[in-house]
Amino acid sequence: MRVVCISAECEPWAKTGGLGDVVDALARAVACGSDQEAGAEQVVQSQVWVGTGGVMGQAPGGVSPCVDRPVDVFLPRYRGVSVPNDASVTPLSVPDPHAAGGVTEVKLVEFEARGYRVRLVDHPPAFDRDGYYGDDDGDFADNGWRFGLLCRAALEALLAEDRPLDVLHLHDWQAMPAALMRDIFYSDKPRIFDAAVVVTIHNLAYQGWLSREQLAGIATVAEISKMVGPHADGLLLLREGIKRAELVNTVSPGYAAEVLTPAFGLGMDKVLRGLGHRFGGIINGLDTALWDPGTDSALPASYSRADLSGKATCRRALLSEVGFDPDDERAVLGMIGRLDPQKGFDLLTGAAKDLLVEGGRLVVLGTGDPKLVAELEALASKRPDAVAVSERFDRALARRIYAGSDLFVMPSRFEPCGQGQMIALRYGTPAIVHRTGGLADTVVDADAFPDEGTGFVFETPTVAALLEACRRAMSHYHAGGIAWAELQDRGMAIDWSWEAGPAEQYAATYRRAVSLRREP
Ligand code: GLC
Repeated sequence: MRVVCISAECEPWAKTGGLGDVVDALARAVACGSDQEAGAEQVVQSQVWVGTGGVMGQAPGGVSPCVDRPVDVFLPRYRGVSVPNDASVTPLSVPDPHAAGGVTEVKLVEFEARGYRVRLVDHPPAFDRDGYYGDDDGDFADNGWRFGLLCRAALEALLAEDRPLDVLHLHDWQAMPAALMRDIFYSDKPRIFDAAVVVTIHNLAYQGWLSREQLAGIATVAEISKMVGPHADGLLLLREGIKRAELVNTVSPGYAAEVLTPAFGLGMDKVLRGLGHRFGGIINGLDTALWDPGTDSALPASYSRADLSGKATCRRALLSEVGFDPDDERAVLGMIGRLDPQKGFDLLTGAAKDLLVEGGRLVVLGTGDPKLVAELEALASKRPDAVAVSERFDRALARRIYAGSDLFVMPSRFEPCGQGQMIALRYGTPAIVHRTGGLADTVVDADAFPDEGTGFVFETPTVAALLEACRRAMSHYHAGGIAWAELQDRGMAIDWSWEAGPAEQYAATYRRAVSLRREP
């Protein structure tokens, strides 16, 4: 089985958000060994596709989650990406209607890393810029050309190689031109045309609209007419990818169920419903070696499920670091992420005053919406003993917040999967979340399910509902004792690793996609 990922992000070469983490971890998890054909179809049928939401089964024991080495990951070479000295550099001519003469010369910069093969498409006019997707004026107008070039270069490189290709795994709209191109430009090239396409949607809010003019960056006039017909204004890349893929998934069963409804589907619900069992959700794994309070070098003390005493040290250190009284026992609520309405930061600012009155304290780390930042900073300057805001990107501080907080808040309005809540539980910090998408799949309310609870879940994304959940959480925290210790312990006991389920589910997805593509 040969799997090729195309993505706009992959940690550590390119990352702005969860997409980068997930593509890297997924590539590592599935590129780990020999293929396992036996029983694959059965696994697929019973375990993977839960298109209507609900509970995901455990991966059955004994089935390897691995596809055969190597997994390739194609990425743009953005500004500032450092590459190892022994990387190979190969020139490649890429068909490009945008270029004089119809061809653009790019370089492929390639190396083995972290168990998979990184293949950077190097073309400075397209990728050597300050941002990945846009700048202060918004999205780059030539994104269709840029990501079209990424995809076309990947397909040309694969075409030129004497190796079979089984699956093109395309992540988010930036990789969708590859699905279009497979069908339109390569119908007489079996190596590409016979490859199965698996599309993973990390966030349906970004759909990649290209006007007719922008499409000219990836195809000629005649080819555009073939794609969109003679009259359409343009196309949505994500919709094209969805329609052409053998299998489509989102990054949690909960979000998969939500996006089938008009309220969350953002115009894409109908085409997704039309896929039936070819659409479903696979929860992202977490790199449990990278996120482990027992080995985390950013923490002042390590701790584990068996011995949580180091967590108290982390708490005191965090409180001192942000200027709070380290001996004060009142609850500390942590929140990390993009300060924007999707993540529900406005709900937190709305609830903050009441939370402070009730004795809660807030430690916030993130960047984003200047208005939200200003509101939080105003609160912090009035109540430096109880509100701390760090407006920056700081991986080490994030780790100290996961470890040192008493509760972790994630009130996202929608959340395809989310990673913060998993990390918080693993670090013994119960999470307060809105019941949506991946958050609903990963956190169990401790009042509704006293024996299974791992956090506190609220139903509607309103200030009042968040506040009520925080009150419940703080009262459990202050009651302390065995019930609190058990709540922490249940969260820490969960195995979020790729190997515990998601890697196998992707491997099975690849096998099923291949058999769908090869069906007579
Ligand atoms: C996007 C989603 C997030 C998800 C991540 C990785 O960033 O917003 O919920 O965890 O992709 O799949």
